[in-house]
Amino acid sequence: MTAYILDGKAIAARIKAEIAAEVAKMKTAHGVTPGLAALVAADDPASQMYVTMKRNRCAEVGMNTFAHDVTAASPQEEVEAKLAELNADPAVHGILVQMPLPDHIDSLRVLDGITLRKDVDGLHPMHIGQLAIKGRDPYFAPATPSGVMVMLREAEEHVDGFEISGSNAVVLGRSNLVGMPMALLLIKANATVTIAHSRTKDTRAALADADIVVSAVGRPHMVPGEWIKPGAVVVDVATVKVDAPDTKRGYRWVGDVEPEGARERAAAISPVPGGVGPMTVIMLLRNTLRAAQIAIERGGTT
Ligand SMILES: NC(=O)c1ccc[n+]([C@@H]2O[C@H](COP(=O)([O-])OP(=O)(O)OC[C@H]3O[C@@H](n4cnc5c(N)ncnc54)[C@H](OP(=O)(O)O)[C@@H]3O)[C@@H](O)[C@H]2O)c1
Repeated sequence: MTAYILDGKAIAARIKAEIAAEVAKMKTAHGVTPGLAALVAADDPASQMYVTMKRNRCAEVGMNTFAHDVTAASPQEEVEAKLAELNADPAVHGILVQMPLPDHIDSLRVLDGITLRKDVDGLHPMHIGQLAIKGRDPYFAPATPSGVMVMLREAEEHVDGFEISGSNAVVLGRSNLVGMPMALLLIKANATVTIAHSRTKDTRAALADADIVVSAVGRPHMVPGEWIKPGAVVVDVATVKVDAPDTKRGYRWVGDVEPEGARERAAAISPVPGGVGPMTVIMLLRNTLRAAQIAIERGGTT
């Protein structure tokens, strides 16, 4: 068996075009341009780079962006006051806090202060709680697991007999950002879910009957191909930079799953890179569009 490749880049490009069309329609019909604001540590080059990348993608679909630097000298009160301003600003539909903020800031207090209708990262405890409650839906689900769900839906279209509902799913990792919300989304989609983590005694045994594997650990190739059940759908969230002296750049990105072996057994698999990565930022854009739609439904009030 050679696996169908869940091409995150291609899926993300398709969704991005749909979002751009919706943004253009919204501007014409309502005179509203979706706006995303970010609070970001001024002195953290990686955070600055991520926020720039998110702002660029927003600009490409016609959204406005605003970034506010948090410096080593910004007091907690100043950051919370800025957040309150963004919460009240009708031009800002989505707010993200790029983690980590500087050490002296109580980040959880900042995150807890985001108005739910603007929490486009979907990480507010209320949003995660709603994911866990039957009959309730959050305004927004976190971007990375949402992107994985879109990829699994794509697998339903391309893999004969594959359906999320009723499948055995194994999520490797239980982080607030990926593993836990991933498991909750899969349960909402009627999968039977097992979560494996650092204390799991036998990860191989846990995977033996997995129709769906979502791996979010960050340990290069910790899952050998032979651990994958034949016919499974595998989504590898991990992206780890490893030395590769044989390449021009001297490094490459790898996932948790050993790809060559897994491709022989899986029915569908996502590549690293070019899998979940491109989906994550597009899901953030989709949430921001949704936030603007909610604001319009509420008559433009914040
Ligand atoms: N592509 C994207 O857009 C995207 C987005 C976010 C993250 N990522 C990548 O996804 C990976 C995970 O990110 P994260 O933020 O969730 O990381 P994290 O916070 O470090 O969480 C890692 C999780 O893996 C678990 N774990 C450790 N060893 C394990 C093992 N042997 N078997 C099963 N689980 C094990 C940990 O368990 P404990 O809870 O017991 O410690 C923890 O829950 C990283 O490589 C990250 O770069 C990619």
